[in-house]
Amino acid sequence: MKIAVLPGDGVGAEVIAEAVKVLAALKGRGLAFEIEQAPIGGAAYDASGDPLPEATLELATKADAILFGAVGGPRYDALPREKRPENAILRLRKELNLFANLRPASVFAELADASTLRPEVVAGLDILIVRELTGDIYFGRPRGIRKLKSGVREGFDTMRYTDEEIRRIAHAGFRAALKRNRKLCSVDKANVLETSQLWREVVSTVGKEYAAVELTHMYVDNAAMQLLKNPRQFDVIVTGNMFGDILSDEASMLTGSIGMLPSASLDEKGKGLYEPIHGSAPDIAGKDLANPLAAILSAAMMLRHSFDQERVAARVEIAVKKVLAQGYRTADIFRRGTRRVGTREMGDAVVAALG
Ligand code: IPM
Ligand code: MG
Repeated sequence: MKIAVLPGDGVGAEVIAEAVKVLAALKGRGLAFEIEQAPIGGAAYDASGDPLPEATLELATKADAILFGAVGGPRYDALPREKRPENAILRLRKELNLFANLRPASVFAELADASTLRPEVVAGLDILIVRELTGDIYFGRPRGIRKLKSGVREGFDTMRYTDEEIRRIAHAGFRAALKRNRKLCSVDKANVLETSQLWREVVSTVGKEYAAVELTHMYVDNAAMQLLKNPRQFDVIVTGNMFGDILSDEASMLTGSIGMLPSASLDEKGKGLYEPIHGSAPDIAGKDLANPLAAILSAAMMLRHSFDQERVAARVEIAVKKVLAQGYRTADIFRRGTRRVGTREMGDAVVAALG
């Protein structure tokens, strides 16, 4: 197996280094892989004027799996859209056809008091958001900013989904639900949007093939509210790119820290890009402060989904639980009475807990 490692910007490089450390500790012990690293995002723009250089795209295309850090930073905010670091991850998703984005949000028992919601609301929470990642208003054409005859400027984007795109992400949602508690909630805005009307229709049709899964539909505004009111009602949520972007940030905060959450973006064959969902966090970059657990848990997702190594993946997840139980905490999840550590020490603790 060949892993492309793309650390990117901000805390990306720091947290990915810890994930690589964990992978290296597993190497040989039944796990064989090769790693190759390449620049992406702002780092690549600085070096070559392109946030996704040809060589990086080629490496990612050839690899069996991609471990991705984060991209972006205030230094790049004024660049034209195609030069912005964010464009690199959007292009990678599109070019590699990584349409199924799995974003688990589960609360570790040790961190139930880290959420801004009451522990009794979030304790035991375990939801999975399946977000469509290569369509919707993110990629729909036409888009632009134009000047109308009146001289007024207008910005416009296009939300669109084909039935084929909806069908394949619906299948991904149902398949995920089959492996969990067999409940799938499809989130849309079918009371207002044509795109969502088709979405609901197609998801319902696909649902007929999954009699064992209980399918419900919910409008996105209500879903945003229900996630705060009673998040444990959800098992798997399947939704489009834009709604999924927003709801997955909301769901991450139920768990206490966005620094804990991994993600997988998969194509039809199980090739995947794995990334912590927290982003580049420029304010704490380079200070050994970032929580590497989301990156380490992303590596675990890689072992599960692209390497088919369920046992090794579980071993990494158990090691993470263990260090939390031992009291190790980075700044984002620190509470009095626990042991505050930096990025590197947290990575070392996970390696030690692998046993
Ligand atoms: C995410 C991020 C990206 C997105 C940005 C960085 C383009 O917010 O992965 O959720 O909007 O998809
Ligand atoms: Mg987002």
